[in-house]
Amino acid sequence: MSKEAAAPPRRSYFNLNPGSIALHLLPAAAFALYVYCNQGPFQSTQCLTIGKNCRSSSFTYMEGTFEKADFYAPVARYYNSLFLRHEDLGGSLAVFTDGVPVIDLYAGFKDLEGTKIYDNTTLQNVYSCGKAVEGIIIARLVQSGLLNYDAKVTDYWPEFGQNGKEDIRLVDIMTHEAGVFFLDDDNKEMSWNSLKDREAFSARLARQAHYFGKDHKGHKRAYHAITRGWYLNEIVRRVDPQGRTIGQIAKEELMVQYPDVELYYSHFPENNEWWESRLSPMVDYPLIRVIGRMIIPDWIRNHQRIGFPGLRPAHRLTYQVMKKDSLTAKGLSLSFVKSVAGLRTKEAHATESTSFSLKSNAHSLAKLMAMMANKGASINPGQEPDLLSREVYEEATTFYSEHEDAVTLTSIPLSRGGWVKSTHLHDIEGLKGVEIQGWGGAGGSLIVWIEELGLGFSYVTNAFGAPEGVLGDIRGHTLLELVVRARKQELGLLPKPEPRKAEENKPKEKITLLQKLRLRS
Ligand SMILES: *[C@@H]1O[C@H](CO)[C@@H](O)[C@H](O)[C@H]1NC(C)=O
Repeated sequence: MSKEAAAPPRRSYFNLNPGSIALHLLPAAAFALYVYCNQGPFQSTQCLTIGKNCRSSSFTYMEGTFEKADFYAPVARYYNSLFLRHEDLGGSLAVFTDGVPVIDLYAGFKDLEGTKIYDNTTLQNVYSCGKAVEGIIIARLVQSGLLNYDAKVTDYWPEFGQNGKEDIRLVDIMTHEAGVFFLDDDNKEMSWNSLKDREAFSARLARQAHYFGKDHKGHKRAYHAITRGWYLNEIVRRVDPQGRTIGQIAKEELMVQYPDVELYYSHFPENNEWWESRLSPMVDYPLIRVIGRMIIPDWIRNHQRIGFPGLRPAHRLTYQVMKKDSLTAKGLSLSFVKSVAGLRTKEAHATESTSFSLKSNAHSLAKLMAMMANKGASINPGQEPDLLSREVYEEATTFYSEHEDAVTLTSIPLSRGGWVKSTHLHDIEGLKGVEIQGWGGAGGSLIVWIEELGLGFSYVTNAFGAPEGVLGDIRGHTLLELVVRARKQELGLLPKPEPRKAEENKPKEKITLLQKLRLRS
């Protein structure tokens, strides 16, 4: 017998059955998963799966303004670290104090491979952050006497008074209590085209029944994530003397009065190149990690050695959004858009959905927030007009109510104008006791003003973060916490920061899960 014949025959892949293939693939899949989860999510697929063509972890593109480093250096350092750790891909960050920009940065890339830089010409869809600007435009119409928060919607739009909505007021729409957080009439198909047929769509919005019924027994608040802007636009175009929509007013008034502010709800120039070159694509958070956060038990997640203490669990609404018939899924999903890429098409840009379609940048949004922090008054008096009169600012930002929301499963205190008004936003430690106003958007963008600190803040990203909260995720929250601390130090409300020791400047050794497991055994 020859030597070769004695060796056990190597199993041919021809006679592997599916079961044993799965068995062999399991360790490979586990390894891929391990690599995948140990690197920041926003890398090319090649990098995450086979470790090839990874972007550098010691360099990221960043440009713009950064002042008062004595106080704000920790903010810039953390922002930079988000890109180096691939927790963010591209975006902008802007902070105004007393109306002056101290941070105005553009960073990272538009694509996972890192071939297109994210510069100061880049625009970003900021989703529900557009609601904060929507709220400002409604307040301006209140100021001109064209709208009144307490008036019934039927005063402006008689057809709205059907199916239990007869007594709904403008303030109910602003505070997500109008009961029309999704459209279920006749189970009609939705598409971008159905939005284009204005009169038919308007009739459809008017016909929609109040979901909780006329008496509003039980639930009151249900986040009108998608629909608020559609309903508001029906009202706005009926009261505006020129019949304009919210998006047209943003463009013809705000963008003209404040020339450095860019706000596009739609109506992009017809040619594809303009928005192809300016509007950054959005990158989704990897589904596998979402599922990981959902199924890994808390004791493992928080375990000092094998887990990742500090990593937040998936928000409650993540579980609900996956159940097709839940109110969360109904309220948050745009059934006809299959992925985030579907919001960046010519068809999508041809229609206006002000609750989720705003394209802007951090500078523009932080500037508006800075004027709100200035109680509506101009931050460049003599050169630019006030955003709102003091009187309307006070009225619009008066606290309205706080209820558990049937869609987001969260209690968020709201003002009459429809912005969050909270001194305990998401129970974030560094924000306790500071009154935050503003709103957040899907994916993690966050725009906020803080009156008492004279602060306008905006974090804009093209990289969907983990679904950790309703308004912002760990990235925006940490940035805001650091900004608030720096601002308090600057104002002498907290002790001045100690100069950094040379020791702290040394990069910390990266402890991976593998090393942690070794330490344990
Ligand atoms: C954008 O950056 C360029 C330099 O890269 C600068 O010249 C220009 O003024 C900046 N534009 C704005 C609006 O900040």
